[in-house]
Amino acid sequence: MFDEYYKPAEDTFFLADYIQNEKGHAALDIGTGSGFLAKVLSDKFELVVSTDISFSALKKAHTVVKNCICCNAADGLNYNFDLAVCNLPYLPSEKITDPATDGLQEGLGVATNIIKSTSNVLKKNGKLVYLTSSLANYMELIRRSKSLGFSAKIAAKKKLFFEELILVECIKL
Ligand SMILES: C[S@@+](CC[C@H](N)C(=O)[O-])C[C@H]1O[C@@H](n2cnc3c(N)ncnc32)[C@H](O)[C@@H]1O
Repeated sequence: MFDEYYKPAEDTFFLADYIQNEKGHAALDIGTGSGFLAKVLSDKFELVVSTDISFSALKKAHTVVKNCICCNAADGLNYNFDLAVCNLPYLPSEKITDPATDGLQEGLGVATNIIKSTSNVLKKNGKLVYLTSSLANYMELIRRSKSLGFSAKIAAKKKLFFEELILVECIKL
C-alpha cells in the first residue's frame, strides 16, 4: 500500500546529518517522500510541515509525521518558516516519469520551481537547505537561487561512486 515513495538513501542521510542541529519555531520539508527529514526536524521545531506532489508518498509520511500537504513545492502554504529543506529530484530528464528523481533539463527545471515557491514562505533571513548533485548543473542552480532573492553557497559535498552530492545553503535576503 505504501510502496510508491522514495526510500531514504545516501542523499537523505547526508541532508539529515547536516540539518540535525537546526532549531527554531517552524520548518518545512518539501518533497518529503517517506517523511524521514520531517521526522528529524520534528525533534527541534515546534511546527513541521511536509509537502509532496505525490499523494502515495504523503500517505507513507503521514504514518511518521503530522501536517502533510499534497501540493507543488510550497504553493499550498501561507506561512513564514524559519527553515525549509529539500532533497531535490535532480536527475536530468526530458520529462517527468518518476517525480522522485526526474529533474527536467540539466536537473534544473523542477529545482528552480521548488526554490521559487520556497522563497514565498520563508522569513527574512530564513534558511533553505537543498541537496543536488554533480549530475545536475548545480552552479547554474546556485546562480538561479541568487536571482530568486537568496544568498547561496555550497555548504558540503560528498563523493559517491558515480556522482558528488552537493548541499547548498541559502539565506532569504
Ligand atoms: C529525492 S526524493 C526525496 C524524498 C525525501 N525527502 C528523502 O530525502 O528521502 C524527492 C521527493 O520530491 C517529491 N517531489 C517532486 N517534485 C515535487 C514538487 N514539484 N513539489 C513537491 N514535491 C515534489 C517527490 O515525490 C519525492 O518524494
